[in-house]
Amino acid sequence: MKNIKHRHIAVFTSGGDSPGMNAALYGIVKKAEQSGIRLSGIRKGYEGLIDGDLVPLDAHKLQKMIHRGGTLLKTARSKRFLTLEGRQRALENLQKNDIDALIAIGGDGTFKGLLAFSEICDIPFIGIPGTIDNDISGTDYTLGFDSAVNTAIENIDKIRDTAESHNRIFLIEVMGRDSGYIAIHSGLCTGTDAILIPESGTDFMDLLDKIKNYHSEDAFLIVISEGDEIGAELVASKIKQINKDVDLRITRLGHVQRGGNPSALDRMLGIRLGVAAVDALLQGRENVMAGILNNQLHFTPFEEVVKQHQVTGEFQELLELFGK
Ligand code: F6P
Repeated sequence: MKNIKHRHIAVFTSGGDSPGMNAALYGIVKKAEQSGIRLSGIRKGYEGLIDGDLVPLDAHKLQKMIHRGGTLLKTARSKRFLTLEGRQRALENLQKNDIDALIAIGGDGTFKGLLAFSEICDIPFIGIPGTIDNDISGTDYTLGFDSAVNTAIENIDKIRDTAESHNRIFLIEVMGRDSGYIAIHSGLCTGTDAILIPESGTDFMDLLDKIKNYHSEDAFLIVISEGDEIGAELVASKIKQINKDVDLRITRLGHVQRGGNPSALDRMLGIRLGVAAVDALLQGRENVMAGILNNQLHFTPFEEVVKQHQVTGEFQELLELFGK
């Protein structure tokens, strides 16, 4: 591997925040410090890149923020960066500040942005997968997924207490724009009666059969991913069609899943990927995403990083056994 000397690296967080982003920033700042590289933070993702919103990153401050969700650098979903004009302004800011490498923490939209940017900007980029949805190939887990699942589990356990007290049916919607990973994991870990995810299509027949046999001396919990094409309201109305007397409630867990203290796994993942991103730049890598596959660091070119919708055969079997 080459030994490249960078003078000034910049880092930003982009898209939906996810627990563990601060730990990744801490990993980056420590490794940059050790390597004698100047490091700047860019606030508010691509928006800050366009506006030249640069701040110094303080290792000591980040050390004390490993346990905090959210992102010290703030984040945004930038419409302006989708335009060539926006990207050109971003390039001018990089040149003005002598930035010779960029690290971005975010989801697949963030990596698509980097790919588009690479057409006009030739400094190396490294990506770190940060999204609670766990819907990116090239890594077993994305930063924040484990924490979000733990938050969902904690809340579903609480819902079970009240559901069982009233013998109610609960439809619990969890996050995952196009992906059912949070639903599968949180549903399996809380022993829910059904799990509805976008990848397998909602199978009403199975669900309605189960509901028919449901006796009102028990609770019935259904976890539904927000990405499910039918949606919680329609599922609820179908259930009421077959049994108008059911006592049913819908709970949307929503953005609580994005916040809160990162789990041990997400803190470790953040630190490992943060250090690996700076290392990758020193080794001369460019335009790759750092991930962990089988507990080993793995680098995937941006072109090969795809939004992952598939639910593997093993998980499909688990769904058949426990969640249908
Ligand atoms: O970051 C991923 C995610 O939390 C998805 O699960 C969800 O669909 C989306 O972001 C919500 O985005 P926003 O916070 O912009 O409403």
